[in-house]
Amino acid sequence: MTYVIAYPCVDVKDKSCLEACPVECIYEGERMLYINPDECIDCGACEAVCPVQAIFYQDSLPSDWKWFEAASEEFFETNPESGKTHKDPEKINSLPKKGGKA
Ligand code: F3S
Ligand code: F3S
Repeated sequence: MTYVIAYPCVDVKDKSCLEACPVECIYEGERMLYINPDECIDCGACEAVCPVQAIFYQDSLPSDWKWFEAASEEFFETNPESGKTHKDPEKINSLPKKGGKA
C-alpha cells in the first residue's frame, strides 16, 4: 500500500509535497508529480499539505482516478533514474491541458 498522486496535480504541480516528504520519494514529471511506491513509508505528510487535494491513500482513490496508480507505476518503470524532470506516461500526456499555471 502507498499514497498516490492523482488528477488534481496535473498542470498544477504545487510541489508543497516535495518539501513535506521525509524520505524524498516524490518525483517530478512534465505535467504532474509521482510517489515512488517502493520508497514511500506511508507517513501521509504529503497528503496534508497539497493545496488541491491531489494525494490519496491507495484505498481511498476516487474510482475515476484509480488508473493513476498504474500510471505512477509506469512512470517509475520508464524513468529508472531519479532527480530530474521525467517524461509522463502516455495516458497523462494525452490528458487535455488545464487552464491554470502549468
Ligand atoms: Fe501536485 Fe499537490 Fe504535490 S499539486 S506537486 S501533489 S502539492
Ligand atoms: Fe512521502 Fe507522502 Fe509517502 S510524504 S513518505 S510520499 S505518504
